[in-house]
Amino acid sequence: VPKAVVFDLDGVLADTAVLHRAAWQQLADEIGVPLDEATAARMKGVDRRGSLDILLERAPRAYGEAEKETLAARKNAHYVELIGRLGPQDLLPGARAAVESVRRAGLKTALASASRNAPQLLDRLGIATLFDYVVDANRIARSKPDPEIFLAAARGLGLAAQDCLGVEDAAAGIAALQAAGMAAVGIGHAQELDKADVLLPDIAAFDISRFIA
Ligand code: BG6
Ligand code: MG
Repeated sequence: VPKAVVFDLDGVLADTAVLHRAAWQQLADEIGVPLDEATAARMKGVDRRGSLDILLERAPRAYGEAEKETLAARKNAHYVELIGRLGPQDLLPGARAAVESVRRAGLKTALASASRNAPQLLDRLGIATLFDYVVDANRIARSKPDPEIFLAAARGLGLAAQDCLGVEDAAAGIAALQAAGMAAVGIGHAQELDKADVLLPDIAAFDISRFIA
């Protein structure tokens, strides 16, 4: 029986996975690198620089370190522009209710987002106060699928990873949860998230009573 639920943000609670995708597409088009759906799926949940490295696998030329920093910053500028007008209406349907139901059931809640934009996003969406602990993505050295971010979430809650249930929409996130020793709830499709312990079509289908009964 879990004592806490650790939520991913982009694509689980907020309708922002599509915005990251669009911002990467914009950068890809600008530098003439193809970006197909399979590659985009591999970039999902992965931090900014890690995602860029995946995108550049198909680049016609090599990029130096300084250039990569510039490209990552450019993608972020596109993304920040896209999230500029987000508000509570951009929470995915059922997202707030899902987190609130976990709290009402007496469990703790944490947010484990790889995004350095997560704190501002939480404020804009009006859900910052729903979490007992929010992992600071700036303090994470290794991106999902490494378990570091979820281990940091468990530590921040004062719990063992085994006592936490994680909710993720990305294959890299599911892999990170399993490497951390957390049960993994996947939000999305089986073809992308076949490793999840439980698969749900969306966060509205998340029912905490199923996991604590
Ligand atoms: C994750 C997203 O939450 O954050 C990824 O799923 C994104 O798509 C990553 O690359 C890093 O986000 P940011 O905002 O720091 O570039
Ligand atoms: Mg996500």
